[in-house]
Amino acid sequence: MPREVAFQRCIDPACAATFGIREILNKCPKCGALVDVAYDENKLRLPKKLSGLGVAPKELKGLAATSGVWRFHQLLPFAPAGKVVSIGEGRTILAAGAPAAEYAGMKPGRLFLQYEGLNPSGSFKDNGMAGAFTHARMVGAKMACCASTGNTSASLAAFAAATGLMKAAVFVGSGKIAIGKLSQALDYGALTYEIEGDFDDAMRRVVEVSADLGLYLVNSLNPFRLEGQKTIMYRVLEGLGWQVPDWIVCPAGNLGNTSAFGKAFEELYQLGLIKRKPRIASINSTGADSFSVWWNDGRMRWNDHKFDRALVDRRYAKLDSRELKTNTIASAIEINRPVNLAKGLRALAWTDGLVRAVPDEAILDAKAVVGLCGYGCEPASAASVAGAKFLVEEGVIGRDERVVCIITGHHLKAPDVTVGYHSYTGEKFHHKFGEFGIRAAKLPNVPVRLPNDRAAIVAELRRASGR
Ligand code: F0G
Repeated sequence: MPREVAFQRCIDPACAATFGIREILNKCPKCGALVDVAYDENKLRLPKKLSGLGVAPKELKGLAATSGVWRFHQLLPFAPAGKVVSIGEGRTILAAGAPAAEYAGMKPGRLFLQYEGLNPSGSFKDNGMAGAFTHARMVGAKMACCASTGNTSASLAAFAAATGLMKAAVFVGSGKIAIGKLSQALDYGALTYEIEGDFDDAMRRVVEVSADLGLYLVNSLNPFRLEGQKTIMYRVLEGLGWQVPDWIVCPAGNLGNTSAFGKAFEELYQLGLIKRKPRIASINSTGADSFSVWWNDGRMRWNDHKFDRALVDRRYAKLDSRELKTNTIASAIEINRPVNLAKGLRALAWTDGLVRAVPDEAILDAKAVVGLCGYGCEPASAASVAGAKFLVEEGVIGRDERVVCIITGHHLKAPDVTVGYHSYTGEKFHHKFGEFGIRAAKLPNVPVRLPNDRAAIVAELRRASGR
C-alpha cells in the first residue's frame, strides 16, 4: 500500500510501529510508548531554503489563510491545506525585550521574547489546538476534552465555540486555576468540571474517562497538538531573519513545548534546512520540579527510550503518599507527572539541552521585568526569563549568545498575581493559592494613594517627574 505523506509512529526505536493518520492514539497500541506524527520526507513539498518557508498556501480558506500555524503547512501536512481548522492563531511576534536582556545579564540585543500571549485565547496553546482540532474533524469527533491548569481548557473552549465543530468538556484541579483562565472556559460555554485534587489527578482521570466514552482528548499526549506547536519555532526563526538562535528557553510543565520545539528543529536539521540546532533549556518551578530532579540529580537521559523508569516510580510513590508536595505560584506549570517525559528527554538529547528549576521569587521578579518590556505575562511564562538569568549566572549561557525566551501566556490570565506583587510591601506574599516564600519583591510598582485634591496631586507629580 503506498504510504501517505503523513503517518503516526511509536517513538520507541525498539518498536517504531507505524499507524495511519486517521487513528486516534494517545499511546502506541503495541508497546504503550508515546506516538509522533511522522512524514515521508520524499513526499514533502519544501522550499530549497529556510527563508522560503512561511508563505501561506493558496488552498487555505477563511481564517486559516491568516494563521501563523497553517502558513507553515508544508512542515505539518497531515491534513489537506483546504481542510485545516483555524481561529486565527499564531499571529505572534518576536520582541526585543531590552529590560529582560539587561536583567538576565545578557549583552544588549541578545535576548528576545517570543510573545505567544497574542493568540486568540491568550496563550501558546492555540497553536497546538489548531492541529488537534484539524485532526478531530478528520476523524469526526463530536466532543473534545482535556485536563488543564487553565490554558489548554481556555483554548479548547475557544476553538469549540468559535468553530462550532464540537462540544468541549474541561477538567481542572479544584481551586488551582488562574481566574482569567477559568473565566474563559465559562464564558466560551465549555462544560467545566473541577476535580478534587490537582492537575495531575485531573489528567489521570481525563485519560480514563475519554477512553471510557470515546471522547477526543486534546492534551499534549495528542501528537497533533505538538505539530501545531512546532510552528512557534518557525516563527522564531522568521523573527530572527532565518538565523538559528543559540538557546531556546521555555517553561516546563507537561513538556509539550519542549517536545514540540525539539521535533521542529530536528526535522529542519534532517531535511537539511538548518545546519545547527539551538540548545533547549527547559525550566521548571522549584515547586513542581520532577523533571529537573530527574535530569540533574538522577542523571536521567533519553537513552533511546530506555530512560530510568525506577526514578519516575520512586518519585510518584512519594507524591502519592504526600511526602512530596506540589505548590507554585506559577500554577500553569504546577505539574509533577509530565505526560511527555519521554519526548521531552528525546528533545533535549536532540538539542544538547538541559533542565533547571527556578523558585517562585525569581519567577515573580522576572515576570515584572517582562512587564517592563511592554509585554506582560503570567507567572509560568516568566520561568523562561528567570531561567535564562540563572543560566547566565551559572556561566552556561554566554552573555553574547542569542537567546529566545518563550513567553507562553498573556499577562491578563492572572492579574491578581500581578497586582499582588506590585502592591507588596509586607513580609509574605499572600495569594488565594497560598502563601509564597518571597522575601522582597525586587521591582514593585506600588500604587500611590492621593487625596482628592488638585494641589496635592500636582505636588506629587512634580516630585515624581522632577519638574
Ligand atoms: N506556560 C503556560 C502559560 C502554560 O499554560 C503551560 C501549560 C506551560 C507553560 C507548560 O507547557 O506543558 O508544554 O510544558 N499549561 C497546560 C494547561 C498544562 O493545562 O494549560 P508544557
